Amino acid sequence: MGNSLDKEQRKVDVADIVHDLTYSDAELKFINRTFVDEMNKGWELGKGLGATNDQSSLKMITSHINILPRGDESGVFFAVDLGGTNLRVLRVTLAEGTPTVREFREAIPSSVISSGASAEDLFDFIATACSNLTTDIPTDWAPIPLGFTFSFAVTQTSIKSGRLLEWTKGFATQGCIGEDPADLLQQALTRMSLPLVVDALCNDTVGTLMANAYQKKSKDCRIGVILGTGTNAAYSDPLLDDLIINIEWGGFDKFQRRTEFDIACDEASHNPGRQVLEKMVSGLYLGELARLATVRALSSKGAMVPSSLLEESSVETADISNLLAGDEKKVAKSALADLDSETLEIMKHISEAVLDRSAAVSAAVLAGVVEKATEGQKNKRCEVGIDGSLFTKGHQYKERLMRHLRKFYPTEEIVLDFSEDGSGMGAALVAAAISRGRQVSNQ
Ligand code: BGC
Repeated sequence: MGNSLDKEQRKVDVADIVHDLTYSDAELKFINRTFVDEMNKGWELGKGLGATNDQSSLKMITSHINILPRGDESGVFFAVDLGGTNLRVLRVTLAEGTPTVREFREAIPSSVISSGASAEDLFDFIATACSNLTTDIPTDWAPIPLGFTFSFAVTQTSIKSGRLLEWTKGFATQGCIGEDPADLLQQALTRMSLPLVVDALCNDTVGTLMANAYQKKSKDCRIGVILGTGTNAAYSDPLLDDLIINIEWGGFDKFQRRTEFDIACDEASHNPGRQVLEKMVSGLYLGELARLATVRALSSKGAMVPSSLLEESSVETADISNLLAGDEKKVAKSALADLDSETLEIMKHISEAVLDRSAAVSAAVLAGVVEKATEGQKNKRCEVGIDGSLFTKGHQYKERLMRHLRKFYPTEEIVLDFSEDGSGMGAALVAAAISRGRQVSNQ
């Protein structure tokens, strides 16, 4: 894998870089076929517990859920959504019809996710956030069910318990790997005497699928995707009694080639060698890939590299999106503010290639998920619930995704729904379904 270049010897111009960053249709097809293969191996060999890397680069973890919301759920539920840049706590009142939601949102400080932080630091931070929405709860109420969207690879031992397999997206808090995140949260809630009981644990992709099915009231909602800080998908498998499986697609690593920028970005990350697809696709990395490639283009032609581009991670994915959208005001407030027009032009070409490749790779693997989610079905219609900042704010991301998806499904009806707040709402819906005693899968 990879085609690391000898930086000293090879001179490249922008066109070469753009070419390197572009996958041909044949390469996308290879990704698509290999991905389906990895899905099959991951499920068969990992047995739903999370395949190990020598079995498959796709963990294929059972969520233990094979029900979709019915729309008649009612009551008060909490949801905690942890896994991106913000922590969100939702207090959801479900009555037939529209849910009412109160939300508390806070940026996650690096002090609770760095390697110097303890599990208690992180989970006390979450419990404190929850306490903002519990102050008016009467003391004689029974504990309120809480659904916990924990957006990392967790092997689930039941609908409400699991074990963290690995951190991603720059999280490095000590004392969490191998532990049950639901239990760690419950302990923190109990330490603060909050009237909440963790009743469901789910991945954000599973939550997104559930929330979209609730909103659209359609049985065709079989896939949930996150395209945000990280990326992943879950789908409901018709050959497994509709069991929802968390694919952990960010781990896919069977690429025929990667660019020198992918390799550099990976090597500088918290988890080198892991989450190879995620590092080509998701919001945490695209700005950095564009920065590395622009620096390479400038230094290759002997131009001076502006100091704002020399600092690792100085360029964010939002910056390259704003640049592509021609939003000068936002660009003027970003790390790109001091770049001259020639450099901006170079960066624009490169950013276009980086963002489009992200959508192309996502489409190639999503096409594989659609194949599995409709396997053996006559009706190939499929609704995909998608949430995440890259999908909503990445420049023309949805159009790009659809354009590349059409290479695999030229005529079938595949709907890409923005599942707003999907990841948090979904956890509340799972908690609601469980509290009504609805059966969940024992797979
Ligand atoms: C995690 C997934 C998660 C995805 C999107 C990845 O880094 O491993 O569990 O679904 O990010 O948040």
